[in-house]
Amino acid sequence: MADIGLVGLGVMGANLALNMAEKGYSVAVHNRTTSKTDAFVANAGSLAEKLTPCPTLTALAEAVDPPRPVVIMVKAGDAVDQQADVLAGHLGEGDILIDAGNANFHDTRRRVRVYAERNIDFLGVGVSGGEEGARHGPSVMAGGDPKAWARVEAIFTDIAAKFAGESCAALVGPEGAGHFVKTIHNGIEYADMQMIAEIYGIMRDGLGLPTEEMSGIFDAWNGGPLKSYLIEITATVLGTTDPRTGKPLVDIILDTAGQKGTGRWSVIEAQHLGAPATVIEAAVAARNLSSRKASRVADEALFGPAPRKLDGALGAREGAMTVLEEAMLAGKIAAYAQGFAVMAQASQAFDWSLPLGTIAKIWRAGCIIRSSFLDDIASTYDSGSAVGNLMTAEPFTGMLKATQASLRRVVAEASLKGIPVPALSSALAYFDFARTARSTADLTQAQRDFFGAHGFERIDEPGKEAHGPWSNAT
Ligand code: 6PG
Repeated sequence: MADIGLVGLGVMGANLALNMAEKGYSVAVHNRTTSKTDAFVANAGSLAEKLTPCPTLTALAEAVDPPRPVVIMVKAGDAVDQQADVLAGHLGEGDILIDAGNANFHDTRRRVRVYAERNIDFLGVGVSGGEEGARHGPSVMAGGDPKAWARVEAIFTDIAAKFAGESCAALVGPEGAGHFVKTIHNGIEYADMQMIAEIYGIMRDGLGLPTEEMSGIFDAWNGGPLKSYLIEITATVLGTTDPRTGKPLVDIILDTAGQKGTGRWSVIEAQHLGAPATVIEAAVAARNLSSRKASRVADEALFGPAPRKLDGALGAREGAMTVLEEAMLAGKIAAYAQGFAVMAQASQAFDWSLPLGTIAKIWRAGCIIRSSFLDDIASTYDSGSAVGNLMTAEPFTGMLKATQASLRRVVAEASLKGIPVPALSSALAYFDFARTARSTADLTQAQRDFFGAHGFERIDEPGKEAHGPWSNAT
């Protein structure tokens, strides 16, 4: 009998099934369109013997060894509810539904409760790494009941990416915790991508570097502290020529960024939790602004183009690449500090006990934000000492001290010449705010008391609510 079932043979589902088959598991597969199921198995080569094509869900339920784990890999949203509902009709007590799509964690929490009433376990499993990851080793962030996870742990541990021999799959908490962690992963992914795009903008518009040269710089950075999948693919992307025009392929791509919603969800959840995620917010807003192409073209005509050419220290180019590299590293520290702080806050709010060190570990390989930087984060959590905000933990404090001046210079020079750097400047503002012992919220509190008698605390009378009087208050 099959070890596991899988419903939905789109790109991600098909590759996950092949990955499981390759690791020796037998998988019962089903797609709404039977011809797609048959074609999938027919094209699976030697792995076909591990795949059981099931024309119906009844056949799938009969093919899987109980208690049956069945992965649903359909488009996030209503399709998951519909598919899970029909599928549950074929499952019995103790069976396990596994949603491996990019679900909103609120939906996952609801589904866990709905199916618990029917004695069916529901696991919400975040899977990162795109098509290639699904096929050869993704990062797997699972949420749900430990007993249900124990039933499938070996399968996910085996198919996941490995970092220094350790699998990048883990149960990170109950109910929607896995999908929450995946959402924050994507928020950080947005921040990383936006900061890289801003540095690219400075190189292209501020320094006038040829695309090929930029590719080489990113390639070189991939040998240093920024070493990561996203830096690596940036070098490759910038080094790619359009076969039709002979120009760099990026130059002929329309400059409006798409998004499916996970970045936005991470910002919404951060706001709900009261956890600042300003770098991710800036990245999401930048995608929104990018999509308004017509209005940007009109506004450039209205206000005139910004000067953009850098003529300050960066423009002189002496050491400019080191400054840019350091600026990105400083921005990255702030962005990851925010992402991990959002997860810490969620962990408390939902009583999840999220293992932040384990999360850093399972992000070291397989996922889109995989990097050596995440290994540093994992080591920090592993060190045994209490970790608050990552900016205040070593080695990040030392790294920030060494690089913050470069971030400041990049933000300042770009701003003076009208090159938009929203994520990098949010990172800088976050850092500066975080280390401002005396903020300006005294004035905000005063205003709130003035117009709404909301009260404030005097520094010479802690814990006591105080009010004006305000001169000339009416
Ligand atoms: C991953 C990716 C994956 C997908 C994003 C893209 O971790 O494998 O994040 O989930 O590529 O959903 O998101 P946008 O379309 O919103 O950029």
